[in-house]
Amino acid sequence: MNIFITGASSGIGEALAYEYAKRASLSTNENNASGSLSSTGLHGIPCNIGLVGRRIDMLQKLAQNLQQQYQIQTAIYAVDVRDKTALANAADDFINRYGAPNIVIASAGVSRGTLTEYFEDIAAFQAVFDINVMGMVHTFQPFIESMKEVSQAGQPAQLVGVASVAGIRGLPGSGAYSASKAAAITYLESLRVEMQHFNIHVSTIAPGYIRTPMTDINTYKMPFLMDTNVFAHKFANAVAKRKRFTVIPWQMGVVARMLRFIPPFLWDWAMKKAPRKKRLD
Ligand SMILES: NC(=O)c1ccc[n+]([C@@H]2O[C@H](COP(=O)([O-])OP(=O)(O)OC[C@H]3O[C@@H](n4cnc5c(N)ncnc54)[C@H](OP(=O)(O)O)[C@@H]3O)[C@@H](O)[C@H]2O)c1
Repeated sequence: MNIFITGASSGIGEALAYEYAKRASLSTNENNASGSLSSTGLHGIPCNIGLVGRRIDMLQKLAQNLQQQYQIQTAIYAVDVRDKTALANAADDFINRYGAPNIVIASAGVSRGTLTEYFEDIAAFQAVFDINVMGMVHTFQPFIESMKEVSQAGQPAQLVGVASVAGIRGLPGSGAYSASKAAAITYLESLRVEMQHFNIHVSTIAPGYIRTPMTDINTYKMPFLMDTNVFAHKFANAVAKRKRFTVIPWQMGVVARMLRFIPPFLWDWAMKKAPRKKRLD
């Protein structure tokens, strides 16, 4: 089983690397014990994981821990997801080392408080869109050709995008982030339909509030806040079930369904006093 994860140096991506490593080692033990199909959602061993982020020191530490705790092979790539050539090179290297991935997870993302009335926030809008939307495209594109072969050979082939509940409606003070996640949700839906001809599954995972460095700085109340390890477990289960679109935690899924039906005038009224993410001055 080969897995490639962006945003692996922190938060959700890092927790997913641990979760899949743990599942791989469980899968090894189960297979050794019974010879039966694994219940972990990982149908083959060994497990090799590609880890992407800009902070190489964090990736090195993670790779070392995965090797020591779970005997997992990793390849680390200190790459900015805005750089399509660097990601294509990373993909080539990963495929040369281990073969095509079975699961590619695009988790790299940034959240910034933005207000359109400030000229200096245009740069933040650009960065958020480039990382959260184009970064996802740059991550998936170089793997698709090789994953077609994987799926033809009857192996699992899955592209997983990390969106957000913030992409369901436009949140005040988070125009860039909300719009980027709305774009990600819509992009992933197009991709899901395109990829079905090749039997490559596309899953959109929309987290609610998860305890990571991204949310640690929020001063407002975050309903149904979930720990990363719990989230990663549920995430991997959703991926194993080939969910098309899922919100985690489920309580935020209920909220997200309701949000879709609120008429614009009611939304405007309800959001007037909503807490806002702080802008960087
Ligand atoms: N936490 C939540 O409550 C929550 C809710 C909804 C959605 N999400 C989404 O979940 C994803 C992960 O967020 P998180 O909460 O885990 O935040 P995090 O702890 O801040 O992690 C963000 C990750 O993205 C990477 N990243 C950011 N910019 C990058 C770039 N230009 N190139 C390469 N990697 C980059 C970071 O690595 P480097 O800094 O090393 O590059 C880091 O590994 C994001 O897409 C976020 O929007 C999170």
